[in-house]
Amino acid sequence: MVKRVRTAVFPVAGLGTRFLPATKAMPKEMLPVVDRPLIQYAIDEAREAGIEHFVFVTGRNKGVIEDHFDRQFELEFTLEQRGKTRALADLRSDLPRPGQTSFTRQQEPLGLGHAVWCARDLVGGEPFALLLPDMIFKSEPGVLKQMVDAYEQRGGNVIAVEEVDPEDVSSYGVVARGEGPDESFDITGMVEKPEVAEAPSNLIISGRYILQPEIFQLIADQPKGAGGEIQITDAMQALMKNQDFTGVKYAGKSFDCGSKIGFLTANVVFALDRPDIASGFMDELKKLTGALPLSVDDSEH
Ligand code: UTP
Repeated sequence: MVKRVRTAVFPVAGLGTRFLPATKAMPKEMLPVVDRPLIQYAIDEAREAGIEHFVFVTGRNKGVIEDHFDRQFELEFTLEQRGKTRALADLRSDLPRPGQTSFTRQQEPLGLGHAVWCARDLVGGEPFALLLPDMIFKSEPGVLKQMVDAYEQRGGNVIAVEEVDPEDVSSYGVVARGEGPDESFDITGMVEKPEVAEAPSNLIISGRYILQPEIFQLIADQPKGAGGEIQITDAMQALMKNQDFTGVKYAGKSFDCGSKIGFLTANVVFALDRPDIASGFMDELKKLTGALPLSVDDSEH
């Protein structure tokens, strides 16, 4: 019997420099895809996978994330007065239950590994899920649920991966694939941002992890890695010497909402999947594409 994964960590302390000026005073994780903030998609995915404790590693300007996961009595009262019972019910069902959220501060954005390490005391000695909220997915079931299913069979550590064009691997953490089916295969190695010629595969780590608590000490022992940041991949490489890692090539599609193109694409795809706005939005898109070629000045790129 493996120990159940009850806790999920959400690192939300990054500066979001690729989205300035939108992220100057507002966290990137509160950018909306259609009408839900990015962080809400990650929370929903974690709840579907059975997570009961939500740990946020925050930084300055991130208090609004804490407010988002709290009751808002004035708003609820007004919705009630106006008979907007559906909106009220939706707001309430989005909330984790009282006592299920914990917040800690990273203080300085020293990298993803460092952000995860800041959660060590809140996680304790249990396996935990790690979700990067700027990656969201269209998948059924959710990506973390697919990973928990693999974890319950094999234990150890689990990483969600997806295929990219081999030319594009240098922007990501990349794994080496061993034996096993797409749903759960052995990971035999990993490297952060390799040169194309040195990449062990075109399977990239896509922002979802299940990790054993021994990772925390390894992060603490880690020197700074790629980009001068404390990288989680370096600590996972060290953990691989003693523990198994399973890859899950998940069924579904990812949207990297930390990049402008990923974020805009996610808005189109998620809007077209929403019964309340899909047909109106599609009409507008058709009008736009009917007016093609839109003038795009290549010199600006
Ligand atoms: P990113 O590298 O995508 O986020 O980290 P960033 O640094 O905020 O964005 P850019 O590159 O400047 O535009 C992935 C996740 O890890 C968190 C981020 O908040 C994001 O959710 N993170 C990153 C931290 O919590 N702390 C860090 O030091 C770095």
